[in-house]
Amino acid sequence: MNTDIFGKAITDFFNDKYSEDITVQSPDFDDDQIPIPYLFRSYDEMPLIEQKALDLSYGTVLDVGCGAGSHSLYLQNEKQLKVTAIDISEGAIAICKQRGIQVAQSQDFFKHQEQRYDTLLFLMNGSGIMGKLGHIDHFFSHVKSLLAPGGQILIDSSDILYLFEDEETGEYWVDLTQGYYGEMQYRLKYENETSDWFDWLFIDYNTLQNAANSNGFLCELIVEGEHNDYLAKLTLA
Ligand SMILES: C[S@@+](CC[C@H](N)C(=O)[O-])C[C@H]1O[C@@H](n2cnc3c(N)ncnc32)[C@H](O)[C@@H]1O
Repeated sequence: MNTDIFGKAITDFFNDKYSEDITVQSPDFDDDQIPIPYLFRSYDEMPLIEQKALDLSYGTVLDVGCGAGSHSLYLQNEKQLKVTAIDISEGAIAICKQRGIQVAQSQDFFKHQEQRYDTLLFLMNGSGIMGKLGHIDHFFSHVKSLLAPGGQILIDSSDILYLFEDEETGEYWVDLTQGYYGEMQYRLKYENETSDWFDWLFIDYNTLQNAANSNGFLCELIVEGEHNDYLAKLTLA
């Protein structure tokens, strides 16, 4: 991403200069919004899926794509866990530090290889970071290199097939020649800046489970949300 949209929006909110949300654009869909206050949610304001992920977290934790660091803060301050928060957004990481996260690094997850962790956390459609389904094997080989013995991956995502349903006929307009239907392209707008287009993967549970199994992981459905979303736990078989 060329511009630090998340960083700017998070910094403005933290400094009481909140004036607008991030607009998410996608070629085939109406614009959507990411409400900036949502990135600063407390445990009580989190969806059940995320609360469950925090409840299951233990040991040393890597919070991947931490944003404003809300999950990390809870784990560090309430559960006294050793947390490392990483995000490609330099602005977001600066605010994580100001919010009191002790270890926060601006880094691409796929380049992170400092140590091994008991818990790898990927939240708020954590599968997005894979970009495309074809990158999932690379994702699994990288997480393998970061997992401590007996460690776990906690990841949330959604089955977005419902987005392709024709409300009148009930039929789906998925074009199978265009690849997996969960492969979205997005760009973000905030104030007068627009990011480049980037890939963001939504993955249904069965597809995740099949890919996990073929990469040597056990995959468990922990909880389903109200919007076709779910939390999965992956451990090495
Ligand atoms: C939807 S936000 C979620 C933020 C946070 N996890 C939450 O639940 O509030 C996705 C975050 O992932 C970060 N991100 C995207 N790709 C990344 C990558 N390759 N490595 C690290 N962070 C990444 C973005 O900068 C953004 O802050």
